[in-house]
Amino acid sequence: MTEKYKIIEENLNRTLNSTELAIINELERRFPRTDFFFEVESSKVLFHLHSIDLSDFKKNLQELMGRYKYFPADDNIFLDILSKIENIKSYGIKAGKRLYVDYDKERKVLNRKQKILQRGMYFYALNNDFTREVNEVPQEFINKIICGDSEEVLKKLPNNCIDLIFTSPPYNFGLGYDTTPDGIDWNRYFDKLFAIFKECIRVLKFGGRIIVNVQPLFSDYIPIHHIISNFFIENKLIWKGEILWDKHNYNCKYTAWGSWKSPSNPYLKYTWEFLEIFCKGDLKHEGSKDRIDITADEFKEWTYAKWDIAPERNMKKYDHPAMFPEELVRRVLKLFSFKGDVVLDPFNGVGSTTVVARKLGRRYIGIDISPKYCEIALKRLKEIPLCLDEIS
Ligand SMILES: C[S@@+](CC[C@H](N)C(=O)[O-])C[C@H]1O[C@@H](n2cnc3c(N)ncnc32)[C@H](O)[C@@H]1O
Repeated sequence: MTEKYKIIEENLNRTLNSTELAIINELERRFPRTDFFFEVESSKVLFHLHSIDLSDFKKNLQELMGRYKYFPADDNIFLDILSKIENIKSYGIKAGKRLYVDYDKERKVLNRKQKILQRGMYFYALNNDFTREVNEVPQEFINKIICGDSEEVLKKLPNNCIDLIFTSPPYNFGLGYDTTPDGIDWNRYFDKLFAIFKECIRVLKFGGRIIVNVQPLFSDYIPIHHIISNFFIENKLIWKGEILWDKHNYNCKYTAWGSWKSPSNPYLKYTWEFLEIFCKGDLKHEGSKDRIDITADEFKEWTYAKWDIAPERNMKKYDHPAMFPEELVRRVLKLFSFKGDVVLDPFNGVGSTTVVARKLGRRYIGIDISPKYCEIALKRLKEIPLCLDEIS
């Protein structure tokens, strides 16, 4: 049991009266000394506070003030102390009580480093055969939109040449894409997706990241985000984390309840998608300080891994059924890449990743199988001046 208390000082220009002393005695009788106690001096009261159930304390205080008819017009020492307690904003919670001392130590794991060493961090990604060699992307691919099947196109790139891959694959929901059927047998779907992701892993640099935006097919109980994550883990990538992209619009109509008002099979509703983040070989991605473009406020806001961003509103304009918004790409690129890095999107659609990469001074490669989407992507890119200083 800890002996430490936080001390709240209540200064008076007088001694305590008998009613105040009676209330103090009664409070101390009702609550354990390990929670709090009063120390009465000639012209002040020290309230030694360790932990408190605030609502219980208030209830008792009110009852005692009523019983002793203690309603001074001013100088109510108990209400003063109560308000000082309420103004303390940092506390822990334990067994329903607010804990005012040692609560931050309580949460700390002792010998944390030692324990990590014993357990082993990202054990599943060790013993990989990734090398630290770095290759340049051949110039003919830089800042290009390439129309083709990503599995084939990616084979033309050397190993270890891409800094960041950000993409959103087709989800196999049955959306009307321009060329590819969406809604095929799941085994065929994952075989193809993983063949492309294998190439993605190969072309990523050591310390490079692949970030996949994915919406599980909740209605068919297919956890695509888990299946994809499992694939990367089996292929020895380090799971860096997960961002919850809350679009604040439902994945199904409000009326889809499953079993209405019955536990037999209620249907869960979601307003969000996931961004699964994986690293090849190392969590750290090297880059020079003068190529950082994220601000302190952006860093503080975006490292909180729930992002509230409205869905893309221009899908009709660009004639694509499943775009992500530029704001999502902007955050990913500024948080996970340096200016001048090479960013790849192997399912580039109408080019949102490449458009933002160009705006932010990253080099880019966008691949999509649909000539129509590639053309739209090119049109969008043409409207953005190339910053020669940043993209060579
Ligand atoms: C979810 S969309 C990506 C949309 C993109 N994020 C945007 O904002 O425009 C998936 C894209 O993958 C493309 N696609 C499907 N199979 C492909 C393949 N084998 N190789 C390259 N692209 C493919 C589709 O044409 C579609 O545009």
